[in-house]
Parts: sequence; C-alpha cells; structure tokens
Amino acid sequence: MSEAYDRAWQASIADPNAFWGAAAQAVDWINPPASTYSEAQGWFPGGTLNTAHNCLDRHVAAGRGGAIALIHDSPVTGLIRHFSYAELLEESGRVAAMLASLGVGKFDRVIIYMPMIPETVFAMLACARLGAIHSVVFGGFAPLELAKRIDDATPKVLLTASCGIEGNRTIAYKPMVDEALALAQHQVDHVVVCQRERQQADLGGARDTDWHALRAATAADPMPEAVAVGAADPLYILYTSGTTGTPKGVVRENGGHAVALAWSMQNIYGIGAGDVFWAASDVGWVVGHSYIVYAPLLVGATTVLFEGKPVGTPDPGTFWRVIERHGVKTFFTAPTAIRAIRKEDPDAAHLAAIGTGTCQAVFLAGERADPDTISWLEEKSGLPVIDHWWQTELGWPAIASCFALGDLRRKRGSAGFPVPGYAFAILDEGGQPLPEGQSGAVAIKAPLAPGAFRTLWNNHSGYAKNFATYAGYYETGDAGFIDEDGFVHIMGRTDDIINVAGHRLSTGQMEQIVASADGVAECAVIGADDAIKGMVPIAFVVPRAGFEHDETIGPRVIAAVRAELGAVAALRTAYVAGGLPKTRSGKILRNLLRKIVNGEEWTTPPTIEDPAVPDRLQALVQRHEVV
Ligand code: COA
Ligand code: AMP
Repeated sequence: MSEAYDRAWQASIADPNAFWGAAAQAVDWINPPASTYSEAQGWFPGGTLNTAHNCLDRHVAAGRGGAIALIHDSPVTGLIRHFSYAELLEESGRVAAMLASLGVGKFDRVIIYMPMIPETVFAMLACARLGAIHSVVFGGFAPLELAKRIDDATPKVLLTASCGIEGNRTIAYKPMVDEALALAQHQVDHVVVCQRERQQADLGGARDTDWHALRAATAADPMPEAVAVGAADPLYILYTSGTTGTPKGVVRENGGHAVALAWSMQNIYGIGAGDVFWAASDVGWVVGHSYIVYAPLLVGATTVLFEGKPVGTPDPGTFWRVIERHGVKTFFTAPTAIRAIRKEDPDAAHLAAIGTGTCQAVFLAGERADPDTISWLEEKSGLPVIDHWWQTELGWPAIASCFALGDLRRKRGSAGFPVPGYAFAILDEGGQPLPEGQSGAVAIKAPLAPGAFRTLWNNHSGYAKNFATYAGYYETGDAGFIDEDGFVHIMGRTDDIINVAGHRLSTGQMEQIVASADGVAECAVIGADDAIKGMVPIAFVVPRAGFEHDETIGPRVIAAVRAELGAVAALRTAYVAGGLPKTRSGKILRNLLRKIVNGEEWTTPPTIEDPAVPDRLQALVQRHEVV
C-alpha cells in the first residue's frame, strides 16, 4: 500500500474540485478559470490558455531555452537531431507562420498525415499556437480512411511528407494523399509536402505546396502570437475505431488536457523539467499525442521521437540503445514491442550488452500485457515493469500503479489501481455493481476526469451513447474485474474492437469490407490470439452460389481490407468455408469461432442452427487451409 497514492486517490474522489484546482496551478492560464468544474461547461470554465505556450514559450521565458526539448532518433535514416526549447519554439513558430500564410486561424482544422519526423511535432505545436485544431492520421491507414477523416474534419490544409520509412521499406505518402482527396467530398485548400531526402514527391497538383519553400517564403513573417483559447475549446481531433465503419473523432480540450497530462508526468511517471522521457509509440495514436508530444513538453522534460521499429532497425537492441544513449528516465511502450524483441533476442543478449542506463521504470499499455512478457522483461532488465490502462477517449491513464506516488504494487495480469480522478465500478448487465472477483463491464463514474473527451466531432449523440447504458457511468467497452486486493484486471472488450500490435481496430469494419467483396455471401472477422501482435484478425468467408470454386476470393478479401482500411489491419488469413456457426435466429457465434481458431475447448451451443458446422470449421483450421 502506498500512502501517497491512497491520499491522492481519496482526495481526488472526495473533493475533485480542490484536487484538480490545485493541479491546475501547473498550467499558465491567460485568464484563470472561474471555477474548477461545471456540468455544462466541463473542466476549468472561464479559463483561457494556449497549449503551445505552455509547452514552449513559458519554459524559454523561464530561462530554460537551452534545455533539450526534443530528440529525433531515427535509426532508419541514421540521423539523431536535438532541438532545444528555444529551437523547438522557433521551428514550430515558423510552421505556425506558414499555416497562417495559408489562411489557417483559430478553430480551423489541419490534417497531419506524416511520419515520425520533427516536422510532425512542429506542425502539431504550430496548430496549437494558432488555436487551430489538428487531426493527426496514422500513416498505416489507407486513402479511404484518410478520406473519411478529411470529410468529417473538413480541414483547410493537409500537411504531409513525401514518404515514411517502415523498417527497410519506403512508403510514398503523397500518392495516398492524392487518392484520399480524390475519394473525399471535402477538398482542402492546400497540401503542404515536406520533401524527404529518401524519396521526393511529385508536387504537380494546383494546391500542392513545398514545405521548405513555404518556410523560406514566410521566413520574414513574425512568429504568430500564441492565441488564447477557452479551456473547453478543442486542441485536436483524434479518430479512433468505433463499432461501425465510421471512425469516432475524439475531441480533446485544451484546459483539462494540459492539467491532467502535467499531473500524470509528475505523479505517475516521475518526470519533471530536465528529465528524459520516451514513449515508443507513433504520433498517430493517442499515446503519441499525449506522451511523445504534449505531456513531456508541458513539464519541461526532454521527449524522444523514435523513427524505427523495436526489431530490425537495425536489431533487437535498438530500444536499449536509445534508452542508454539519451539517458531515458522513464520508458513507455506496448507489450507487443517487447514480445517482438524477445522473439528475436530470447536471452536478451543485446539488453545485457547495452544495459538500460539510468532508466527507472518501464510502462506498458495499449493492449493486455501478458504476465509472461512482464516477467521476462523484469527479469532481464531488473526494472519495475508497470502495466497501465487507458483509451483514446480518456487521453491519459485511468488504471496504473502510480509509480511516482511510491506505488510499486504490481500483480501480473492486472493493470493496477484506479488513477486519482477515476472511480471504477464493475457492473452486471442490469447496471448493478458486482462484488469483488466477479467479471462484468468496466465502467467509470461520471463525470470523467480532466483530459477525457466531452464530445465526438460532429457526433455528440455518439458520445452520449457511452453514458447511456449505465446511468451515471461511462461505459469503457472493456470487461474485467476488481480483485480482493483492489487490483483492476482488464480481460478484453465487450464489443468488436480488437488490438493488433497495440493498434485499435474494429472487426465490424473489416467485416463490412469483406462482405462487399465480389462473391461473398456471408462472413465473420474475429480476433485470434497471436504470440507477437497480441491479436490478429482472421476472416471466415462463405462464397455465394457460383463462387464456391473461385480461389481468388480469399486473396481478394485480404487485398480489399488492406486497400480500404490499410496495412495496419494486418489481415493475413481468410478461411473459405461452406457455412458459419449461427444460432437459429441467425446470430453468428463469433465466440465459438474465436475458440476454434485459438485451439481452445469448445462445446456446441444448444441454439446452433447446424451442429455440423463447428466440426467442419475446426477441421479447416487444423488443416490450415488459408489463402
Ligand atoms: N506508415 C505506413 N505503414 C505503416 C505504418 C506507418 N506509420 N505503421 C505500420 N505500417 C504498416 C507496416 O509496414 C506493416 O505493413 P506490411 O503488412 O506491408 O508489412 C503493417 O502496417 C502492419 O504494421 P505493424 O502492425 O507495425 O506490424 P510489423 O510487423 O511491421 O511490426 C511490431 C510488428 C510488433 C514490431 C510493431 O507493430 C510495433 O512496434 N508495435 C508497437 C505498436 C505501438 O507502439 N503501438 C502504440 C500503442 S501504445
Ligand atoms: P486505444 O484507444 O487505442 O488506446 O485502445 C484502448 C483499448 O486498448 C482499451 O479499451 C483496452 O481494450 C485496450 N487496452 C489499453 N491498455 C490496456 C492494458 N494495459 N490492458 C488491457 N487492455 C488495454
């Protein structure tokens, strides 16, 4: 038991206004908030601030301009670049001037479809400076997904780069942007392309603008002022998978976000000014937004932007090398990355040779951390490995061991304890709290802590649905239980969302794509266990009459998912079957399919329409007749 954690959690629940009011002191407000919370206006009503000012200007003004803010470590290009706070302020100010010259102002949207390069961070901070709303789209998404986001966010400008570097492959981004704009209804005024040495893009289009040329052309423009925005005004929109094919645009507010992230750095991760923090994620995901870009800079720390993979860039020692080289104090990654490293270096020879320098702890999130992976890493590194849980919707961890509050309690298989600000309940189908040890829906008492979403872009009713099932609670979509020691265990999702290599995807969305392929009568896509990626999607396809002998069906549905959703979906297996296991009322028994592909014990449900189907599917899977 940690007294400091206990005190903080109790205080946050007993008097959230006092707790978050005190935490809000860590932020420079232009107008201090009139109060801490109001049902109608959310957190810090009346407060105005600028997030970029809080990340940059104030540290420079305080005399810390020479301290390192950002390290770009890119084993795929061989480059390591350092940017001090003064330099990062200047660079992001230049991009703000570029955007301003294109007419971007307060509340305009800017889509950022870019790889892990410093310009991406400059761009996010530039938008924040202007009070514009950025929406970063992960590079692994296909043009159609980008188009959906363009149509929903209706941006004025789209920022991109000529290419991304994925391991030893170069991926041209500009043709994907062109394709997305051809698919989208909404059209941007400008596409600004950051040309990279590795591969240049063709800038033939009328709205195409060269990033570096625009920077030179606006070099004499004054740096735009950091615009005052309201605490509840949006800083960014981040699209995440929902249960339909339409992505959900999670809206992050400026005020609660700054307060919560600053609090989390100090109290969860133990990071303050001058410390080096590294989140090995991608800026396209919420972890990248919060813990590569905003949180470390809010507290004046150094953040590492890593352009590489855990393995193959160049070897499974790359993580330890980055940690050691830059003096990383707290490290954050996804369990899948550790599993990938372990597969290639089971004895951790690289880790033994390189060490972990002054690193004090490793945090894992994004998917369930299997106990075996945690044990391996704790044993090989000698560091505490702390699983913690959160979601795009929340923006920062809600279940963790608050390491920096002296809480090092860990139980393998559990993500830890409720973080201050969050009160959890495990509810049954009727919304009644379940006793300790019993599994149910994981719910969080409303209102959510600062930083958590308060709406979805263009879809407030979609947001409200999260609070509709259980009165007074936010439905997380996860299932789990709280054990006798108070540890929260997350067991999986209650909907069709799966986590593939830490990437959140919807099997329902994949099913829609598969179902519309030529010759498909019906289909199901489920998440199967995978030793490296945690989960991978598997498709079952039933051909329409006349297509039973069409051997292209499997490859075609795989290609369709890649083309429409993106490479990140990683659908590589499609079983072509004579029928799916269904109840007599026509419901596909996806759980049964999951058990069959996972090689788990299963029984034939009494409600099944055709009891012969599961055996036939099991035989198919055992023969591994994949396409
Ligand atoms: N731009 C373009 N394509 C991308 C991309 C990007 N930013 N990120 C991934 N892709 C592509 C990959 O190249 C791959 O394509 P392929 O099918 O042609 O090989 C596909 O999307 C799947 O990528 P990924 O899931 O990353 O698999 P991988 O086999 O390349 O690597 C791991 C496996 C485990 C090493 C990798 O997934 C990893 O590092 N995961 C950690 C994830 C993470 O940090 N998540 C954040 C949550 S906290
Ligand atoms: P994302 O919004 O991409 O961060 O994904 C959020 C989802 O990932 C959660 O709802 C969980 O299902 C899963 N998740 C994240 N962290 C963990 C964790 N530590 N343990 C188990 N599941 C997790």
